Amino acid sequence: MPDALRPGPRPATADSRLLRAARGEQVDRLPVWFMRQAGRSLPEYRKVRAGVPMLEACMRADLVTEITLQPVRRHGVDAAILFSDIVLPLKALGVDLDIVSGVGPVIAKPVRDQAAVEALPRFDPAAVGFVAEAVNELASELGRTPLIGFAGAPYTLASYLIEGGPSKDHAKTKALMHAEPAVWNALLARLAEISGAFLRVQVEAGASAVQLFDSWAGGLAPDDYRRHVLPHSAAVFQTVADLAVPRIHFGVATGEILTDMSSAGVEVVGVDWRVPLDEAAARIQPGQAVQGNLDPALVFAPWDVIEAQTRDVVRRGAAAAGHIFNLGHGVLPDTDPDVLSRIVELVHSLDVPTEFSR
Ligand code: CP3
Repeated sequence: MPDALRPGPRPATADSRLLRAARGEQVDRLPVWFMRQAGRSLPEYRKVRAGVPMLEACMRADLVTEITLQPVRRHGVDAAILFSDIVLPLKALGVDLDIVSGVGPVIAKPVRDQAAVEALPRFDPAAVGFVAEAVNELASELGRTPLIGFAGAPYTLASYLIEGGPSKDHAKTKALMHAEPAVWNALLARLAEISGAFLRVQVEAGASAVQLFDSWAGGLAPDDYRRHVLPHSAAVFQTVADLAVPRIHFGVATGEILTDMSSAGVEVVGVDWRVPLDEAAARIQPGQAVQGNLDPALVFAPWDVIEAQTRDVVRRGAAAAGHIFNLGHGVLPDTDPDVLSRIVELVHSLDVPTEFSR
């Protein structure tokens, strides 16, 4: 098979710390990156974004490339994550939505019945050509550093479409899930198709790993997650299975559903700060790696506290087959970027523990 058609990550990145850790192989130092590493904590980001609405920035390949590279240059992290948003593919396909600063995604016409589901656009790679272009450019700029592609999980995307915007209790979402199972399944299946196809576009253009963000799944009762959500997330991962890149599954407050999330067909399970990594390792499938999980609010603590907790996260991560160091959720906008750089430096200075001891 010619190289171009062989599945797997971009060859220059195949032996990187991120990919080795995701496969459970030995690493010289732990790989580290931060969710939301490209964003408001960086002055260079605020400068580039000045006067450019969020979704417009996501649709300009030159800005996507520049913003994605900023945290790699500044912090020396072991991976870049594409600058984009979970609602970007929906926007690009023609769904009327916006990202309102300080609020989040807002949908003009919420999706709450079969007709609205059927009216959703189908995926079309031509609509996200600018993403493929940016990923291609990034792959060549990044060299041996992997680029992580991502998408929103069907449940988290559905929650925005159904509620019409951000929500604390996701009441309308859960009501639809229980009252209209046919509409629910049709909606989540549509979203799974879009997210799966969007991940494929990113990997085929040069992304070396993918992460599915199911940020709000932790708000579900485990039985509801298992029955009404997990099969759709598993379908997304199945869509990229043949591409043979590591698949990362992440959500917030997912302690009670971690075992289920780990069974979606993934190599890496993202863990927030509520579950210590050694405990998380006991809840996931043998051979899987963990990603996480320093509390993002801890960056505001004195350095000696940050250092002690970082060391503790590293120590506990050794209970899993592999460990990718990260925060337990995204970088908070007021974070001092120098603290993030210092955390990267600290993690890279530590010997990788070979086993976890209590
Ligand atoms: O991690 C990265 O650096 C990549 C960039 C990224 C963004 N959004 C950029 C962004 C990623 C991975 C996302 C995913 C995303 N978007 C999620 C899942 C991850 C998570 O945090 O749980 C969710 C739930 C969204 C929806 C969304 N988009 C929210 C809740 C917000 C915040 C709104 C606000 O202003 O507080 C956004 C906007 C957004 N997405 C920003 C960034 C950098 C901020 C917009 C800005 O800088 O003006």
